[in-house]
Amino acid sequence: MHELAVLNCKQFVTLAGPQRPRIGREMRDLTIIPDGAMLVRGDRIQGIGSRAQIESMLTPGAEMVDAGGRIVLPGFVDAHTHPVFAGTRSDEFEQRSEGATYAEIAARGGGIRSTVRRTREATEAELLDAGRKYREWFLRGGTTTIEAKSGYGLSLESECKILNVIRQLGCESSLRYVPTFLGAHEVPDEYRGRMDAYIDLVVHEMLPRIAGEHLAQYCDVFCEPNVFPVAKARFILRAAKDLGFGLRLHADQFSPDEGALLAAELGAVTADHLESTGPAGLDALKAAGVQPVLLPASVYNLGSSRYPAARSMIDLGLAVVLATDFNPGSSPTASMPMVLSLASTQMKMTPAESITAATVNAAYSLRRGGEIGSLEPGKFADFAVHDCDDYRELPYFFGREPAHSVYVNGLCVYRK
Ligand code: NIG
Ligand code: FE
Repeated sequence: MHELAVLNCKQFVTLAGPQRPRIGREMRDLTIIPDGAMLVRGDRIQGIGSRAQIESMLTPGAEMVDAGGRIVLPGFVDAHTHPVFAGTRSDEFEQRSEGATYAEIAARGGGIRSTVRRTREATEAELLDAGRKYREWFLRGGTTTIEAKSGYGLSLESECKILNVIRQLGCESSLRYVPTFLGAHEVPDEYRGRMDAYIDLVVHEMLPRIAGEHLAQYCDVFCEPNVFPVAKARFILRAAKDLGFGLRLHADQFSPDEGALLAAELGAVTADHLESTGPAGLDALKAAGVQPVLLPASVYNLGSSRYPAARSMIDLGLAVVLATDFNPGSSPTASMPMVLSLASTQMKMTPAESITAATVNAAYSLRRGGEIGSLEPGKFADFAVHDCDDYRELPYFFGREPAHSVYVNGLCVYRK
């Protein structure tokens, strides 16, 4: 079996700890081994410890990875992305720079619907090409797993096309993909003014087909008064739950509390965005054990200053997660280091809290906490060597990609 030893690391940031998401003060504890080392056999971590300990476990012929005095972290787990779409929206970005708002652009037929038009026209091969390009961007940032939503097809055929592309991208053995069906991302052009007819299609045709073909593990809905209001979102999500999907929600991005309350009521795994959530919504999430997924890059890119209340969430004992929300409209970045920077500067999360939110807590939010998110024996060898002397440099030096090399299943998938 292939054996690999990672040696000469200034800080080995393991995130080892209790086998559950981290809350409160635990989020500051990264379990760092100075001058630590790791042994990998096949795709799994065999041992972690001091250099001397690991060297004593080695068999002849093991591959040596000299980290060159850099730091090693678990691969980032990006628990909210929209990575398969055609075209860009750089035209709308320009319009927003001249003062138009995201909502105004959407109301005149742009926004999500403009990406839907282009994605419907694209072939599977074209989407695969674009998806491979963006996959490289995730890896370059030190990310090794992403949650990947559909949502730019909004027809049975096009939603399945996107989910098939996600499946193929995941089969190519570099980045890991966890698929989510987001058929209720927007009401498509041909159903304008007929939301109930579109919901009928989602519930009676798309969900059963996607469940039958095992094309997605989660179902998400963009729950917002002027997109899918709470009663409609509830109807779709209940149907999804009955078919065995885990639930995630775009909740309270622009309007307060109803999305968070719905996530709690339905026992969703996550409630995402939460820029407008107040104390009642946060209490409900806590009582129901729902993990908040915070997306500060979309707040930044929309030019807003309303960031989610990360400090209150941590104080309340919520197992906070950070993600990029990579998509062509509100958040065109695949960079977790950028998200860590925003978390510290705009939401006052410490670098350690941010790293916990971007690794182990994110892994639990995908129900993969037993396999990824920390560097511990038995887990997959998904890790990144970052060109830093100290983990706090990850958010501190912003606007660069610090990853030097990235490994998934013990195999190098990216090298600078
Ligand atoms: O998470 N809010 C809804 N969905 C995405 C934006 C998608 C788009 O603009 O294309 C989000 O921000
Ligand atoms: Fe999103």
